Amino acid sequence: MVGFCIFGAGRMGQLHARTLLDNDKANLRYVYDVIPEAAKELAERSGAQVAPDIRTALASEDVDAVIITTPASSHVELVIEAARAGKAIFTEKPLSEDIETARHAIEEISKAGVITAMGFMKRFEPSHYKLIQAVKSNQIGRVELVVLTNRDIHVTILELVKETHKTAPYTLLRESTVHDFDLARVLLGEEPVEVYVSGSCLVEPEFEPIGEIDAAMTTLRTESGQMCHISNIWRTQYGYDQRIEVFGSKGMLRAENRPETSVMHFREDGILLDRLIPSSEEDWASDDFFMPKYAAAYPHEMNLFVDAVLSGEPPLVTIYDGYRAQMIVEAAVKSLATNQPVQIEKD
Ligand SMILES: NC(=O)c1ccc[n+]([C@@H]2O[C@H](COP(=O)([O-])OP(=O)(O)OC[C@H]3O[C@@H](n4cnc5c(N)ncnc54)[C@H](O)[C@@H]3O)[C@@H](O)[C@H]2O)c1
Repeated sequence: MVGFCIFGAGRMGQLHARTLLDNDKANLRYVYDVIPEAAKELAERSGAQVAPDIRTALASEDVDAVIITTPASSHVELVIEAARAGKAIFTEKPLSEDIETARHAIEEISKAGVITAMGFMKRFEPSHYKLIQAVKSNQIGRVELVVLTNRDIHVTILELVKETHKTAPYTLLRESTVHDFDLARVLLGEEPVEVYVSGSCLVEPEFEPIGEIDAAMTTLRTESGQMCHISNIWRTQYGYDQRIEVFGSKGMLRAENRPETSVMHFREDGILLDRLIPSSEEDWASDDFFMPKYAAAYPHEMNLFVDAVLSGEPPLVTIYDGYRAQMIVEAAVKSLATNQPVQIEKD
């Protein structure tokens, strides 16, 4: 049995707590949140206790693993505290808001030798998962070109963007494209060495005056010349658009968007499919519109983490992957600011 504590009882903390409740190898023991009522509500719902502070939860022998679902600015600090306490760590993305503190976290993790996992759940969406397996088992030969499309239905984090612009600009790259950087790494099978980003403010008028962006076209390049193109925007008129295309020397793989049902309506003016997942008006309008698409991915990543803690074998995605993705983010931010291709740091 793996004893857990959750730091951050918001949307993602609640979601991961539900997976723990359904897993008979996991037990949520403590919840901590800077807002005590939020911690109390989740703890009561989950049969856990409210931790008065982080240290109390980390000092408990009943706690083997920590789930960090606070905002990005506190991830590194919590990762380091948990590593020093010898706990296994799952943290939500992004790992940090800069590369120096991310590197520090990696040093502490490696000193502590703890199991870690990173919330890059897009790898675990069933079609993405199968596509990644096909690439890794050489079914399309050498990967040459990767095309990633990641477009949100609408802007959900206007306030966060405004708040963090001065200290950690370009939230689109940090919160959204970071998932694509992780996918690009795993699909290319080689670390990207160069990034170029062209960004614009096309959607949200409040971003323009502060110099933020809500649309970006990014290219990545590896040492051997493989390339990846990423298309991001925070407004679609047709639903949550998540696609992967991998072109290899022996073929091509694609993971497409899926409509909610397979019903096709043949009409005089054409053939009509259902709306993309999510299809309900309520889900489209919600800030959680991404959840139905990744509904199976969240429990998959968390259950693998539970198994990893029990077996002592690292899971598929570790905080080191978060660190590598963060290196690309930091280079991408420089590229956007200078309008030049930027070399990505090695370790
Ligand atoms: N992988 C995904 O699909 C996905 C989706 C959404 C958000 N996220 C990431 O998850 C993280 C949390 O996002 P969310 O949507 O759940 O946010 P949220 O605002 O709903 O919840 C965050 C919670 O953390 C608490 N908190 C803030 N600072 C804290 C601290 N230092 N210690 C303890 N509690 C603290 C807040 O009071 C709040 O209750 C973010 O890093 C975000 O990027 C990941």
